[in-house]
Amino acid sequence: MSLPKLIVANWKMNGFTPDGMERAKTLITFVKEENPTAFKLVLCPPVTLAGVIHYLLHGSAISSGGQDCHAQPSGAFTGDISAPMLKDVGCSYVIVGHSERRQYHKETSAEVAAKAKAAHAAGLIAIICVGESDAERMAGQAESVVAGQLKLSLPETVTAENTVVAYEPIWAIGTGKTPSTDDVASMHAFIRAHVPATMPLLYGGSVKGSNAREFLHLANVDGVLVGGASLKVDEFLAIAKASV
Ligand code: PGA
Repeated sequence: MSLPKLIVANWKMNGFTPDGMERAKTLITFVKEENPTAFKLVLCPPVTLAGVIHYLLHGSAISSGGQDCHAQPSGAFTGDISAPMLKDVGCSYVIVGHSERRQYHKETSAEVAAKAKAAHAAGLIAIICVGESDAERMAGQAESVVAGQLKLSLPETVTAENTVVAYEPIWAIGTGKTPSTDDVASMHAFIRAHVPATMPLLYGGSVKGSNAREFLHLANVDGVLVGGASLKVDEFLAIAKASV
């Protein structure tokens, strides 16, 4: 039997306690009643909600994660959150190197690797994001850009168990545009050749209930990383159910 698909919600900088709790409760009830084997849910709320969400998730099959972490475990880094802090509030995953961090916070792949290494040291699974821009794809550089990101963003501590790679073409994030299934299949085959054979690979970028199935059943697609659609619980559940 194949492994459950990993369905990861990236709530980004959205949500307050009441709506975050509401979404989590609905998902917990669903998972409790259905006990799905085809997929596993991971919620990555803003860090303000991480504690309360973990409290709710306690005892459920749903995991939680952070959206970023610092490369150092502690220290004078005002406003930053460390990997051990995420672990402390119950997270088992952390997203690192999301294109919004690379773009708006000028994070380099070397910094992403340091963050992933910190995540591993804290016992977290790092979800390392890679993906090309529109211009890079147009110029035929999608694979070389992703290869470069993989080479520099994956630290030497990476194993198939402590890391997930998410392929998120920047031009598909939050735009409603998606690559063709052929493009996703070929990029995932390309990524597969650069990482341990059993490492989960996620596709992310404008995934929604109506298109999730076409991605989730491609070879080398072990799950999806969902932004906008993860804020609507019905839509997020529709994506998860498309794993079946
Ligand atoms: P989107 O975001 O689903 O809103 O396109 C995906 C992501 O940024 O992880």
